[in-house]
Amino acid sequence: METLAAALATRAGGPLRGRVMPPGDKSISHRALILGLLCVGETKIVGLLEGDDVLHTAVACAALGAKVQRRGEGRWSVRGCGIGSLLAPRAPLDFGNSGTGMRLMMGVVGSHAITATFDGDASLRKRPMQRILDPLGSMGAEVLAQTPGGRCPILLKGTSEPTPIVFSPPVASAQIKSAVLLAGLNSPGRTTVIEAEATRDHTEKMLKYFGASIETGPFAKHGQKITLEGRPDLRPARVIVPSDPSSAAFPLVAATIVPRSDIVIEGMMMNPLRTGLLATLLEMGADIDILDRRAEGGEEVADLRVRAAALKGVDVPAARAPSMIDEYPILAVAAAFASGEMRMRGLAELRVKESDRLRAVADGLREAGAASQIIGDDLIVEGRAGDVLGGGMAATHLDHRIAMSFLCLGLASRRPMAIDDSRMIATSFPEFQALMEQLGARFQ
Ligand code: S3P
Repeated sequence: METLAAALATRAGGPLRGRVMPPGDKSISHRALILGLLCVGETKIVGLLEGDDVLHTAVACAALGAKVQRRGEGRWSVRGCGIGSLLAPRAPLDFGNSGTGMRLMMGVVGSHAITATFDGDASLRKRPMQRILDPLGSMGAEVLAQTPGGRCPILLKGTSEPTPIVFSPPVASAQIKSAVLLAGLNSPGRTTVIEAEATRDHTEKMLKYFGASIETGPFAKHGQKITLEGRPDLRPARVIVPSDPSSAAFPLVAATIVPRSDIVIEGMMMNPLRTGLLATLLEMGADIDILDRRAEGGEEVADLRVRAAALKGVDVPAARAPSMIDEYPILAVAAAFASGEMRMRGLAELRVKESDRLRAVADGLREAGAASQIIGDDLIVEGRAGDVLGGGMAATHLDHRIAMSFLCLGLASRRPMAIDDSRMIATSFPEFQALMEQLGARFQ
């Protein structure tokens, strides 16, 4: 049953101060559960993001035969059934708001002799799935029913004899790459994905960590080529989930735009395929010290000391988009507080995220008294040199990152800023309000 929308607002108060640790990475959390399902034996996960998106994936893993147990805060155990031995789920698999959960699991089901219905909320029902169904079709999976245009609910019949393929995703997408690689796990032979633009590599790294034979090399100027040997003997492992840079992005930008702020964000993952926002904020003049770089759970992490700074607008190249694809809404908020014009190029993919983020950002900025334009696939924001009016209400369209971005804007605007619905924040960052309040943020 749908719950009622919950409006929320923020207003400027004093500076943000203190130390915080953002929640576990969403991408790694989904993958840890799914690889746990695909191993025989117990996978232990520490620091799992307990957001709604990931919890839907946990339930789907259980429906496919895994024994999934919560052992304590962020501590989970998955006893999987192994590649080739999944159970047919008895009910539709509901992924809520999560494109990642749905697309990765389509890859898993597509190469097993089972049939499953994939469904989600009103936002997920609008998102394109054909990009996943096409390669899975080449491998032998069949779509038995779908909503026109490759939208869910989708009834997918997997195959027991998947054909290994060589596939070049039509758009830069770690979800497409991961779906094909996960399907390739049960294919006899080598599955290859060639990416023109390298995207986050968590699936590849984790597959290697669980014992798969997988090779990655550079391809053309910005791309990579990944080859996986099918039917590996995956070994259950212990996964430590680092802090999510896409969630850290909110306190990071808030501390930059709220005058006199000085905070430390602990344990943020520094995987170079995820740090585009950091690079862009530094170019804009942000005051960020990267402290204590260290390895944790197979990823580099660091603490970030962030102090308020005057920003200037810059031109962000399209090639940087994959490394900060989820961070454009909050970057656009930073741009509104910068001086001069900021152009963010090559953002076509933002139109098919949890909402049409290009539209939602431009509309929300207008509500806050800041001008922006969408020209082709570029977003151009007119900076207001620290003086953003606020006072409006941003429509969030079931999109957690739109919600959190405009709440951050309200912490530094002249008047309070409201959002129409805060429920979706729980999909990726359930403790967002508490963590921001711990830093001194004012909600109303
Ligand atoms: C994700 C990949 C990205 C990103 C999403 C998480 C992943 O999506 O936007 O939030 O975990 O693989 P695309 O692959 O569609 O770009």
